[in-house]
Amino acid sequence: MTERTNLTEVLLGPADAAEAVALSAEAGWNQTVDDWALMLEFGAGFGRRDRYGRLVATALTLPYPPFAWIAMVLVTKTWQRRGLATELLRTCIDDAERSGLVAGLDATPAGTLVYRPLGFEAVYGLTRMRAETVAPIKTIAGPVRAMTEADLDTVLAFDRKLFGAERSGVLRHLFGRQPGHAFLAEVSGTVSGYVLAREGREATQIGPLAAPDESTACALVGAALADLKGAVYLDVGDRHTSLLSWLDDHGFAPQRPYTRMIMGRAKPYDDAASQYAIAGPELG
Ligand SMILES: CC(C)(COP(=O)(O)OP(=O)(O)OC[C@H]1O[C@@H](n2cnc3c(N)ncnc32)[C@H](O)[C@@H]1OP(=O)(O)O)[C@@H](O)C(=O)NCCC(=O)NCCS
Repeated sequence: MTERTNLTEVLLGPADAAEAVALSAEAGWNQTVDDWALMLEFGAGFGRRDRYGRLVATALTLPYPPFAWIAMVLVTKTWQRRGLATELLRTCIDDAERSGLVAGLDATPAGTLVYRPLGFEAVYGLTRMRAETVAPIKTIAGPVRAMTEADLDTVLAFDRKLFGAERSGVLRHLFGRQPGHAFLAEVSGTVSGYVLAREGREATQIGPLAAPDESTACALVGAALADLKGAVYLDVGDRHTSLLSWLDDHGFAPQRPYTRMIMGRAKPYDDAASQYAIAGPELG
């Protein structure tokens, strides 16, 4: 019997969240136990345990009709390059296809090497921007106000159109994490943009950030960043050069690239021109 056959296939649930954080932390990722619990509650989690019961590999799908979002593809260092990510991806793709959903994901550079041969195509590039400490922000003029619980249904309907898929449960959860840093843009009573924030293992993540233009995007992100302490991440679409240079002026620097990829399709589902920062590679 080879060492490889000693692995056990397991389904993961919210109770596995604390253990799964160890795997994402090993890769230097930002997810907390709350993030994992959210994804394992809303989605379907797949894993491999070694003969000692340790979790050594994971992947999950989040149902975002019309597509399935694949996330948290992780293999511990000692088990890499033995086909585990490919195997788990195949399970995720089968799971998506059984539900009639198209698989999509945001890939790290290492991830793209696994996903391309499986039929994923690149849709657009993203850059993770990180600030250790955000530089002081002058108030930015814009049609921006604090988001309240009463705004949620309207914001969720706005996001459905812009993101091209249904992810209300996830966004409701994110709003609940940091409601004081959630803002919306509104013109004549109509929502034209919004921003959410959540705490991470090592930095606050700002996103999604949607806006009708660059100046409103900067006004929203400026509002979300006010009074925020510590390190911050934003995952910004590469086309949004004005926002990227605004972030550069406020203490952010590029940390790593991501590629949005969709199975068998090189065209985005979302309105990429209005989607300035994503919710994070794990949430789309
Ligand atoms: C990326 C990752 C999930 C790959 O897991 P894995 O189980 O080693 O991947 P596989 O064994 O299925 O690799 C399949 C193929 O992808 C390519 N590949 C995978 N990792 C690679 C690497 N680090 N460098 C070059 N090619 C790589 C190879 O072509 C490999 O086939 P081969 O080993 O026969 O040459 C793993 O390295 C990891 O957890 N990295 C850190 C987290 C991460 O970036 N996850 C991806 C999120 S999108």
